[in-house]
Amino acid sequence: MPPVKDVAPSSLLWARKWKGLMKALIDSKYLGNFVSRTTRGSRVVVVSNREPCLHERTAGGIEMIRPASGLVTALEPIVRATHGIWVAHGSGSADRYVTDEKGRITVTPEDPQYTLRRVWMTKKEENGYYYSISNRALWPLCHIAYTRPFFSRDDWEIYKIVNRRFCEAILDEVRGEPAVVFIQDYHLALLPRMLRNERPDLKLVHFWHIPWPNREAFRIFPWGEELLDGLLGNDILGFHIQYHCNNFMGTVDRGIEAMVDYEHFRIHRGGHPTYIRAFPISVDFRQIGRDAGSPKVAENRQRFIRELGEEVLQTKLYVGVDRLDYTKGIAERIQGFDIMLKRHPELVGKATLLQLAAPSRTHLEEYRAVSDEIDQRVDEINWHHQTDGWTPIRFLRAHHDYYSVLAAYGMADVLMVTSLHDGMNLVAKEFISARTDDDGILLLSRYTGASRELPDALLVNPFDVDEVADAMHDAFHMTEKERKGRMRRLRRKVRRNTIFDWGLKIFEELETVLPVEEQA
Ligand code: G6P
Repeated sequence: MPPVKDVAPSSLLWARKWKGLMKALIDSKYLGNFVSRTTRGSRVVVVSNREPCLHERTAGGIEMIRPASGLVTALEPIVRATHGIWVAHGSGSADRYVTDEKGRITVTPEDPQYTLRRVWMTKKEENGYYYSISNRALWPLCHIAYTRPFFSRDDWEIYKIVNRRFCEAILDEVRGEPAVVFIQDYHLALLPRMLRNERPDLKLVHFWHIPWPNREAFRIFPWGEELLDGLLGNDILGFHIQYHCNNFMGTVDRGIEAMVDYEHFRIHRGGHPTYIRAFPISVDFRQIGRDAGSPKVAENRQRFIRELGEEVLQTKLYVGVDRLDYTKGIAERIQGFDIMLKRHPELVGKATLLQLAAPSRTHLEEYRAVSDEIDQRVDEINWHHQTDGWTPIRFLRAHHDYYSVLAAYGMADVLMVTSLHDGMNLVAKEFISARTDDDGILLLSRYTGASRELPDALLVNPFDVDEVADAMHDAFHMTEKERKGRMRRLRRKVRRNTIFDWGLKIFEELETVLPVEEQA
């Protein structure tokens, strides 16, 4: 019998090509139009802790700052196309000076597209709601990175007050009109129930951007029943991966009175169904690719070269780009690098680790501690290995803007994401999108949501620093053919599921579970 060749029939090839062409059309405009069609007649409200733009007082007056955020990329087209409302914490130093008495501002005043409604907080409230419950209790509880969560009853009361304030702002904005409210993240877990109680007709969708732990880990949260009840006020509750959906179902099953329906992945509480779904978030693949070739990125590359010295590019460059957070496994990757140099002394002077680290949540002790620990390790390792012309680790602690991050991606021989646990990790997907040259190696923690979609990365257990060292060493010797083959497959994956597909899938699901006709 002649060998069977793996050749797709021409109709199948056409179907694939057609699908590829269709995918190229799913951009921000397509998403905006889709949402606008499917939410006919309803107001669309996006809610998040961080604002899509903030006003800061500067030497020259008041400046509007638009943070480079993947979330804003996805959600802005939705609010823009629907002339919707974005409700968020007003945290800029000049935010109050540019809003009306209700905290509203049109974005942008010159070209009005949507309304930003700012919610105000006192320092004490920001401490209790944001620093304490969100980032010292829920963040470590959900990430399980062996940092003990901290629980304070007083702060839980403040968390409730702040969630209530968001609720009132939303109710004030939608006043009796039908609306779809799209809530983001763990800062606002009680909001859905509050909204549901006041306005049972609202359509509520919530996306939880961090992992959901298993029920044993969640059990220690002192106000678990209230938190779960809050989330079950939603119509749809989304997580990055199915595993987190399963964990949530298990947590509710054991934690509170509710009917957990594993067949349809929905939970009935008080007669109301909440659909639990996985929507893997992504990035704007095409835009990142375009921006990677921009003059601003080229300028930043030159700036890095001036700062680090030309010689750095003569070595293999291992790059990390993270917020300075204990979940990111920065200390583990530094240890891995050290072990590689000790085991393979022939690499001394031939490999450099460049770490861009953005200070984050620095008011919290746990964050200061991880930052100090990393400083010490970097010092020790540099002292141990450095030679006249070479420093093994270059640690740049600063807020690096979008273009400098793209420049670092472009310089990387190996991009390292060694999170101890991460809902998705968009750095991995940004790196892939930026590498239009089909080159570069992604070394990726198995404990990121991204690893489920990206098997062509070098996958590691970041807790096993020997394994990290081995993978770094493999990366050093990987052939160009293998590197490029892997990168091409990684790029195909990210191209097929962009940030706009994420938004689209969420609103398609809303159409499925709550068609417009069923509206009250
Ligand atoms: C990470 C998480 C997001 C979260 C954000 C908050 O990016 O993945 O889920 O919303 O941190 O960061 P912030 O600086 O606002 O505390």
